[in-house]
Amino acid sequence: NQRKMVKLCGIGAGYVGGPTMAVIALKCPSIEVAVVDISQSRISAWNSDKLPIYEPGLENVVKQCRGKNLIFSTDVERHVQEADIIFVSVNTPTKARGLGAGKAADLTYWESAARMIADVCTSDKIVVEKSTVPVRTAEAIEQILAHKSKGIKYQILSNPEFLSEGTAVQDLLEPDRVLIGGNEGPEGQEAIKKLKDIYAHWVSEDKIITTNIWSAELSKLADNAFLAQRISSINAMSALCEATGAQVSQVSLALSKNPKIGPRFLNASVGFGGSCFQKDILNLVYICECNGLVEVANYWKQVIKVNDYQKSRFVQRVVSSMFNTVSGKKIAVLGFAFKKDTSDTRKTPAIDVCKGLLGDDACLSIYDPRVSADQIKKDLSMNNVQWDHPIHLQPLSSSSSNGLEHVDIAEDAYEATKDAHGICILTEWDEFKGIDFQRVFDDMQKPAFVFDGRNILDVGKLREIGFIVYSIGSPVEQWLNNSVNSAVPF
Ligand code: UDX
Ligand code: UDX
Ligand code: ADP
Repeated sequence: NQRKMVKLCGIGAGYVGGPTMAVIALKCPSIEVAVVDISQSRISAWNSDKLPIYEPGLENVVKQCRGKNLIFSTDVERHVQEADIIFVSVNTPTKARGLGAGKAADLTYWESAARMIADVCTSDKIVVEKSTVPVRTAEAIEQILAHKSKGIKYQILSNPEFLSEGTAVQDLLEPDRVLIGGNEGPEGQEAIKKLKDIYAHWVSEDKIITTNIWSAELSKLADNAFLAQRISSINAMSALCEATGAQVSQVSLALSKNPKIGPRFLNASVGFGGSCFQKDILNLVYICECNGLVEVANYWKQVIKVNDYQKSRFVQRVVSSMFNTVSGKKIAVLGFAFKKDTSDTRKTPAIDVCKGLLGDDACLSIYDPRVSADQIKKDLSMNNVQWDHPIHLQPLSSSSSNGLEHVDIAEDAYEATKDAHGICILTEWDEFKGIDFQRVFDDMQKPAFVFDGRNILDVGKLREIGFIVYSIGSPVEQWLNNSVNSAVPF
């Protein structure tokens, strides 16, 4: 038991597992960290110059540790067997079929990881839940492990990750908190202490919260549900602002000064996306329903309903402004990722908006600085359930043109907007603020429309150039009065 080096193994080299394990390796040079995944292509990418995910600062962290105390491997079993502590960050999408379909978390990947752990381990282990899981997953995992334990002792900890994409490295380097849930007995407390010691390399003790295991699991779901709820709340206000003449950005500013409310997560948008918010709320709803808490379930469901409403409201606004038809019209879509500074498109509102516009026979020209053409096409040709599951784990669809004849991927914003009738801003990429809109206007069909789904553009300037501008949560009359065409129907 006097081994010099503590060994960690992270199962799942995705958006959560990759950056998390890399930062642990950076901050704990005395600890060996192995990140393993069943996907050969993902592991190859982690070992290459082009990492499989884009995160500011990540390349730098990986380069400093890779080959020293950080390795990426597909030899899952060996590294699991050798590790003292196993972090599990496999994906937990929403169940596609069967009991709880469309709501409950699909624990297939988790369960297969747990069974593999049970099969290969020959010494006591601490197993850490990193990926978000429904409350009481640890109990299920414990059962799987205990069933085959061969006398080996497992301690399960819940240590949910609170990083945001786009700022993952920063969030990991300076976390606002580290939450560790474990069993209340002495062995559980000892396991908590071991994990705490790892974080203590760079996180001050007062930021490390320890709880029982269920509280930790539920806190993660609650955290995402609260954040999503704030966005749906401000988005609901944005609809009211448009109808009444208030300005949502002014309302946000006023709210932000109330310390009981706080300044963050008050940007009205075309809707929230990302792999977490919807999935975790659906999960919460499912758990409430299973416990007979119908009122509570309905309360949280409404957060998703408002988000869906916001996306379809945006599509309706585009279509109705453009004289009730976008059929055959070129529309430029700027931004496809679910937020800026990431290449991730999981649950991005752009998918629903694009599908809505395609449903009205628009011709789309899509530009995103980070998302590949292949990814965009896959996202738009997949049904909603497939799209929740990782691309590399599913068969590629055989027909390449699943209604995508009207989708064109552009190299830059100028190509996307050339000859277009309208522009939809769907991601708040900084580079969109620097676009030469006079040049864009000159190359567009007239009247030229801009629909700013992220409120990042200078509406006044655009109107001066001659655009008809709609931005989320701005009173509609205002632009109607200023616009060149006062007969736009609403
Ligand atoms: C509220 C607003 O806070 C204030 O900004 C506004 O100007 C007037 O309305 P008030 O009604 O005086 O102020 O009290 P507040 O402290 O907000 O509490 C309102 C109710 O919420 C109380 O019944 C309180 O017990 C309850 N509450 C408050 C909770 O149940 N939980 C909490 O965490 C906070
Ligand atoms: C979220 C949580 O913030 C993080 O704590 C958790 O660990 C994982 O889920 P992430 O999904 O990476 O992180 O991004 P986040 O910044 O929360 O944005 C989620 C979505 O909400 C994006 O589509 C974003 O554009 C949208 N959003 C965010 C708004 O529309 N308005 C806002 O004010 C903030
Ligand atoms: P997240 O955003 O939660 O990190 P990702 O889909 O980006 O989700 O990453 C999850 C990773 O877990 C994927 O790369 C997937 O290949 C991997 N994975 C899933 N099941 C297993 C398993 N049983 N063993 C090893 N890796 C797995």
